[in-house]
Amino acid sequence: MKVRVWDLPTRLFHWLLAVCVTGLVVTGEIAGDAMAWHFRFGYLVLALVLFRLVWGFAGGYWSRFSSFVRRPSHVVAYIRGRKSSSSVGHNPLGALSVLALLGLLLVQAGAGLISDDEVLVSGPLVAKVPNAWVTAATTFHTTVGKFGVLALVALHIGAIVWYRLRKNDDLVTPMWTGDKDVLEPVAASVDSAARRWTALAIAGMCGLGVWALLAWAATAP
Ligand code: HEM
Ligand code: HEM
Repeated sequence: MKVRVWDLPTRLFHWLLAVCVTGLVVTGEIAGDAMAWHFRFGYLVLALVLFRLVWGFAGGYWSRFSSFVRRPSHVVAYIRGRKSSSSVGHNPLGALSVLALLGLLLVQAGAGLISDDEVLVSGPLVAKVPNAWVTAATTFHTTVGKFGVLALVALHIGAIVWYRLRKNDDLVTPMWTGDKDVLEPVAASVDSAARRWTALAIAGMCGLGVWALLAWAATAP
């Protein structure tokens, strides 16, 4: 039988995030005129990650942190094969990579706001912080942050391919259609029109928050 695992807001969040992060890496490397798009993608990633953090409390059952964030001892037991996990939702190891990705993207986008290439482009909040912060944030953004994001995305996609080849487990179709085939009944994520409107309202507020930050950034230092 089929069960709704990923509600539409989670799926839209995911694929938009994947497009934006790819766009960020490409425009960051091209630099020059592409930086205008780098900034736009960056603001969108900020709003998306903020949305996902709220949706981790307000979203469908399997999108909530309470359904997949586990104690470290539980994760270790899972890795050692001493604990199995539900085949629905994120497994304990996958959950760690979700949190690492969201956390690093938030820090990387935050650093971008105060990064500066000392020639043509400056993040919108550069004038609001001390120079030493700008130097540190730019170094982080172009080294640890950049390679960290690339490594986590490679690990993420590698893990999905591994599950497909080694465990014959197709994780991609559910992230696309929302549904998973299960043998026994499990809780479903509610994905009604009302929940989707709620998600849109939350996403709108996150967008407004980023916009307010940028409006403040444009005021005199
Ligand atoms: C830059 C690219 C990408 C980023 C930043 C990214 C990020 C994420 C994040 C944050 C989640 C957690 C979803 C949530 O609970 O909200 C996730 C899950 C997932 N992603 Fe990606 N993703 C990327 C690319 C891809 C690609 C290309 C694929 C397909 C091959 C993919 C397939 C999946 C799947 C199947 C899941 C659910 C995993 C599970 O069942 O536990 N992702 N991704
Ligand atoms: C998670 C989101 C982001 C990712 C993955 C990302 C990635 C990158 C990459 C790969 C580069 C090129 C680094 C290099 O030259 O080696 C770069 C440069 C840069 N990014 Fe981002 N970026 C993100 C968000 C942002 C945001 C939100 C802003 C500002 C609004 C920003 C501002 C900059 C600036 C100013 C540079 C030029 C730094 C320099 O060349 O010294 N980035 N970014």
